[in-house]
Amino acid sequence: MNHLPKNPIGIFDSGIGGLTVAHAVSELLPNENMIYFGDTAHLPYGEKSIAAIQAYTVKICDFLLSKKCKVILIACNSASAAGFELAKEYVASRAKVLNVIDPVVEYVSQKYSYKRVGLIGTRATVNSRAYPQKLSLLNPTITLQSLATPLLASMIEEGFFNNSVSKAALEAYLSNPVLKGIEALILGCTHYPLIKKEIEAFYKGKVEVIDGSYKVAEALKNYLTENRLLKTTLGSRKKFYVSDFTESFEASTKIFFGRKVHLNFYRLWE
Ligand code: DGL
Repeated sequence: MNHLPKNPIGIFDSGIGGLTVAHAVSELLPNENMIYFGDTAHLPYGEKSIAAIQAYTVKICDFLLSKKCKVILIACNSASAAGFELAKEYVASRAKVLNVIDPVVEYVSQKYSYKRVGLIGTRATVNSRAYPQKLSLLNPTITLQSLATPLLASMIEEGFFNNSVSKAALEAYLSNPVLKGIEALILGCTHYPLIKKEIEAFYKGKVEVIDGSYKVAEALKNYLTENRLLKTTLGSRKKFYVSDFTESFEASTKIFFGRKVHLNFYRLWE
């Protein structure tokens, strides 16, 4: 049975960026056991087809189920957009599947009636139209303006943030007419919490910049509480796996998780 408080929370992403979500979950739920899987062998998901992302998602769900995860949280926006419905069907009653899109869409739907809201993310996320479709179901009065910003994730992975390179890239993307007149901007990618402050500075505080990582951690906490799955005993075990190991992946864990973590190589793909 995967439905016991001591069972871990499974979190997966295309790589290391999803550690921003794992970090938010660790902050809010410090006693939860956690299994993280970064599919570094297939990075970046943002440039992959929906079919490819779905195939990766199913295989990773199998891995997390084999680790007896009570919840599978898809930390990757691209995989949340392309693979959530399939993952939910595939996993069925074996574990709860959560994604990073729904909590943000819910928040926006309640706060921005009759307003324009922007979204930035990978090509896979933007082209899937998952955000506008979900939002129009909850609140059709909101206009969602989406822009793919593919350069930003690799820029951040290379450590270019809070400097002149990131400033120039952000100015180029955020001045795009598509984002004109927005009152809020959704950060639809695991990596973007690291450039949240720079984006706020670009908008001089006039646009709310929405980082979904804490919203999804809250949604997870609510689910665990309502279903009596919250682990209340002190202490936790966290294990981090990747499908391809390099020193640089391990070094960049510090950027996304706030401290360096040990990555275990797991051969998920032959
Ligand atoms: N994790 C991905 C996302 O949130 C960004 C990196 C990638 O393209 O794989 O969409």
